[in-house]
Amino acid sequence: MESIAFDFSNMMVEQLGEEQGIRREEINAMAARGRAIVQSVQNHRHGDGLRWFDLPYQKETLAEVKALARQMAGRYHNCVVIGIGGSALGAIALRSALLHPWHNQLPDEKRPGPRLFVLDNVDPDWLSGFFDVVAPEESCFNVISKSGSTAETISQFLLFRQALRERLGDHYIKQMIVTTDAKGGSLRPLVRRETFRSFVVPEGVGGRFSVLSPVGLFPTAVAGIDVDALLAGAARADQETRHEEIWQNRALLYAVLQWLSYRRGKRISVMMPYSQALRDVAAWYRQLLAESLAKRKNRAGEDVFVGQTPVKALGVTDQHSQMQLYIDGPFDKVVTFLRVGSFHKELTIPPWQTGQSAVDYLGGHSFNELLQAEGDATTIALTEAGRANASFILPELNAYTVGQLLYTLEVATAYSGELYDINAFDQPGVEAGKVATYALLGRAGYENRRQEIETARRRATRFAV
Ligand code: PA5
Repeated sequence: MESIAFDFSNMMVEQLGEEQGIRREEINAMAARGRAIVQSVQNHRHGDGLRWFDLPYQKETLAEVKALARQMAGRYHNCVVIGIGGSALGAIALRSALLHPWHNQLPDEKRPGPRLFVLDNVDPDWLSGFFDVVAPEESCFNVISKSGSTAETISQFLLFRQALRERLGDHYIKQMIVTTDAKGGSLRPLVRRETFRSFVVPEGVGGRFSVLSPVGLFPTAVAGIDVDALLAGAARADQETRHEEIWQNRALLYAVLQWLSYRRGKRISVMMPYSQALRDVAAWYRQLLAESLAKRKNRAGEDVFVGQTPVKALGVTDQHSQMQLYIDGPFDKVVTFLRVGSFHKELTIPPWQTGQSAVDYLGGHSFNELLQAEGDATTIALTEAGRANASFILPELNAYTVGQLLYTLEVATAYSGELYDINAFDQPGVEAGKVATYALLGRAGYENRRQEIETARRRATRFAV
């Protein structure tokens, strides 16, 4: 089984020149710190916030996930995930990366499992429209919320519970699977009372690090993704990213390169897959980076206001939208490409000699060649313009390589937290927004916050045209 690779040549002084490039000595100078970081993180991998490190090895849970997934896949046309943020983005990323690109549009007999929908918004038009394409009675619903209290998720839970009850009476219960904390939150008591089947978001695993827990595994197993291979890939990445030598550990190297870049003013981190299937890995990573590494306080409690702004882009599409900025704009970005060595299909561009030079040269090449050439061309253009860029290369796109990639990025994020000296596993900013929503909608216990908001609103000067 092949390994993913990390090519960071275009971060280095040899390619980018003195002003923008990183020198080997700078990386060598980080060797001792890198070693200490790996030791410290790995020694704490069973501690709070870091227990996702062991998700590749959860044999019993995996067996339960697969058993229930088989049952649901045999009974229903659709699997509908109700969740948001870390409770949704992993499943979305895996669906795009590993299912047929038109999975939900395929006829039943051509799909490896039910259609997979992830509802991570509360827009009333969007949700109402959903009932026009999916019959609730033909669907299993996976309600996912670690806290068991997120307003977006709970409100949708109520919507679909009612829709199911109207159609099926009390039988609806067997179509709702709840994934939540083992003890806390409002969902676990309902699981017990209503006897929903359920999975646990393991203790010490935050939402954005939960893709390899039942949060990401169950819905994607229902849809037909090979979750064994996904975890096997992650397990391999776990072994490889424990290496204490910086030059041997691609997660540590990635973290160090990003951090060195940040320190020299590259405050924006762009992830740009050259693969339609990996577009949502960039969305998943955007959350991982933003929520983990953007923090006001360091560990000593001082204000530091750190964090790269994550941007997701897509090759080749965004060459025609953002590339101008990346090549000629400010020197404030690092671009991480995701490249795929070999695609599943070879698709030839049909030849037609027309006498038009813009047409004639393309025929006989393949779309594979075109995509790779455009990826190479972008890399060359960025590098020649002195723009830092690096690439993760997946030899091919499958559950094993995607498992490696996701896990490597998670480990890199944990190592980055040490470099920034911040807690990468909390999200006080997200919590603040949740609390304000509870207050505005009248949740008991949030009356004081509501008062504060109303007072501030009364005082606010409004500008609008
Ligand atoms: O990563 C995180 O912690 C967040 O993005 C959460 O996943 C998100 O807010 C949803 O929370 P919950 O799963 O508790 O409903």
